[in-house]
Amino acid sequence: MADLLNHKKILIIIGGGIAAYKCLDLIRRLKERGANVQAILTKGGAEFITPLSISSLSENKVYQDLFSLTDEAEMGHIRLSRENDLILVAPATADLMAKMAMGIADNLATTTLLAANKPVMIAPTMNSQMWANPATQQNLKTLQQRNILVIPPADGDLACGEVGTGRLADVDDIISNLEDFFLSQLQNNPLKNKKITVTAGPTLEAIDPVRYIANHSSGKQGYAIAQALRERGAIVTLISGPTHLPTPHGVMRITVKSAQEMLKATEKTLPADGVICVAAVTDWKIENPSTQKIKKQKGSLPQLKLSENPDILKTISTHKKYRPALVVGFAAETDHLIEYAQNKLTKKGCDWIIANDISGDIMGGDENQVHLVTKEGVEHWPLQSKLDVARQLTKQIEEYFK
Ligand code: CTP
Repeated sequence: MADLLNHKKILIIIGGGIAAYKCLDLIRRLKERGANVQAILTKGGAEFITPLSISSLSENKVYQDLFSLTDEAEMGHIRLSRENDLILVAPATADLMAKMAMGIADNLATTTLLAANKPVMIAPTMNSQMWANPATQQNLKTLQQRNILVIPPADGDLACGEVGTGRLADVDDIISNLEDFFLSQLQNNPLKNKKITVTAGPTLEAIDPVRYIANHSSGKQGYAIAQALRERGAIVTLISGPTHLPTPHGVMRITVKSAQEMLKATEKTLPADGVICVAAVTDWKIENPSTQKIKKQKGSLPQLKLSENPDILKTISTHKKYRPALVVGFAAETDHLIEYAQNKLTKKGCDWIIANDISGDIMGGDENQVHLVTKEGVEHWPLQSKLDVARQLTKQIEEYFK
């Protein structure tokens, strides 16, 4: 699934340190997340990893030599910084940091850094004494004063056999720094730091400890909405019934079973700027679920007494203390789609209803055709992937919060 790093263009400058091998995993992970990765491999870096392994993973050419005719015919050092969103130096050796601080341009990596007009982030790694050396610390300060972003080295065993500060940050750590950077780029986005809760998936209502009533909701649409909102900088809590889906990156997920639990968890997220109720809440629950497994008995069938579940959407829409600025519900219908959706808008007291026709293979499928129903009117959206529905809805929410 696409996310914050999707389509982001990252130039990695690989310095000469044993930790260069971690870059291969980093590149693989960035590619999985939809980023476009280009790499400059320094002479030192090439002592540890090969251009072939980098280009196989990045699916891009690897740049090495400042004076290579083809690269320079394209003015490689200028072009590489212009066409990327961010330059990441990893591993950043003491030597590379010193050259950056001094403005030395004696190879493709350092020349590109000097010619850069894009944000630069460094992930230093070196022996702990080299790190602690006042020369390195002074260089670090100089770089920070020039707004170069720093992913601090970690503590632990170093390749030289000593223990201390100087290990290249973990790949997970580097990725979360990249995410934070791209989030911070969304500065003027109206969704940045807006608190939004999304409910998703089915709810399960226990009959006894092993049996339950539920529905066919896969959770895909709700998860896609949580992801799309996060991509635009919102702080998203996903209250989800049981699903088989991975939690979208950067989204806080709370897993619940019953409608009652979903309501409680949703109310706990208030005050929030918005609540989007996508969950297919089971309308009824068993009034007195058995605490022991119900045994089959000849000639008699269990009599299940149902009672109504709380309506989460309505409860949030009519909340006395913390009614969010925007509450959105879904209306899954097989017929009279728009009419029923308009009724739901009034009945539940929410601001928008996304009406979807579930007469086809929508539940569990990857596509959805929906209509945005508001007090002002109805907008018909095309049949598209659930992620595109999520992105279109997110755009609409951005407009609302502008
Ligand atoms: N919903 C909810 N809590 C419930 C039932 C529904 O929050 N107990 C929310 C759903 O998440 C969805 C909207 O209400 O956003 C519409 O749900 P739907 O089941 O289609 O509507 P119902 O109110 O149950 O009406 P009906 O089943 O009669 O169509």
